[in-house]
Amino acid sequence: EETAKSGYDHYMLKEIHEQPRALRKCLRGRVDELTGSVEVESLAGLDPESVQFVACGTSYHAALFGARLLRESGVHAQAFLASEYATAPPPISDGGLVVGVTQSGETADTLAALREARRRGVETLAMTNVVGSTAARECDRTLFIRAGPEIGVAATKTFSSQVVAANLLAGVVASGDDAREIVEALRDLPGQVQAILDDTRAAKVAETYVDSEGYFFVGRGHHYPVALEGALKMKEITYKHAEGFPAGELKHGPLALVTDETPVFAVVTGDGPEATKTVGNVKEVEARDAPVVAVTDGASDAGRFADAVLEIPETHPRVAPVLANVQLQLVAYHVAKRLGRSIDKPRNLAKSVTVE
Ligand code: G6P
Repeated sequence: EETAKSGYDHYMLKEIHEQPRALRKCLRGRVDELTGSVEVESLAGLDPESVQFVACGTSYHAALFGARLLRESGVHAQAFLASEYATAPPPISDGGLVVGVTQSGETADTLAALREARRRGVETLAMTNVVGSTAARECDRTLFIRAGPEIGVAATKTFSSQVVAANLLAGVVASGDDAREIVEALRDLPGQVQAILDDTRAAKVAETYVDSEGYFFVGRGHHYPVALEGALKMKEITYKHAEGFPAGELKHGPLALVTDETPVFAVVTGDGPEATKTVGNVKEVEARDAPVVAVTDGASDAGRFADAVLEIPETHPRVAPVLANVQLQLVAYHVAKRLGRSIDKPRNLAKSVTVE
């Protein structure tokens, strides 16, 4: 087992460090930098009228992101938690597509939702890591994320690969004016992830806040799923209370919980209206004495109001969530390590949940 970890203390850390390679594999042969076109053989001819994503856990966060990308390009798209989808299957038009996002391809709730779609005669697509998995076998189409085996129960590299795969899907289904910029950003992404891994202050931030009562994560727009994923990672492996919110929801409840004992991680990139609003939210929590950790590319003045900054390189907004999330993966890892948790096999959790 020690050899399999290649010198890393945990599979999770090894898998975090495998991300540059995993992302290169996800992109290989699928994008054309010159034209900005995305070509994935298994998605040839795909032109859905509407798209419903179904997924659980971390994969649901990638699904939320994917649905947003499609909506940005004018495609009617929504993401559903697979277990909820089944309780009242939402209507879908004849030319619709249901996308199951599932690392393992074996999650019972996601398979049930995909089967419900097939029962209704709707085309299905499995976005999965496992060739030969049940989802891959049962769906009409597959989009393999090519992340390689993930042993740690808490998903890390597969989330990043799902976010990139969601960009590929969006590129096929609804490529927009900035297709070339997106493809260039995807090309640069593995190197940018490596730069973060080589020079992150996540361990220092973890050290500073390891004794906190709880952790909050906020993000807006593209970063909303990252806020959810940052919190999920933290609770899964540290067993500490953590919650993620869309930044705009802070004042609709969560702000009541914010104290000097609850660091707030704010993901802010760019200097557009979304960033300005999130910086406004950062100021609100700062006024309540909460420590603020800005995960930012430095384009806005978020860092000025923060107690600590986790820097990420500048890139296209559709790609930035991967970079921000890498920093949050590392913070969760180092907090869990300091607390002596069972990082690769957290209590009560399974890598793949095969019962509904
Ligand atoms: C379990 C795992 C999570 C994972 C979720 C969905 O809860 O512990 O890490 O995100 O299942 O798994 P899937 O294989 O469908 O992506």
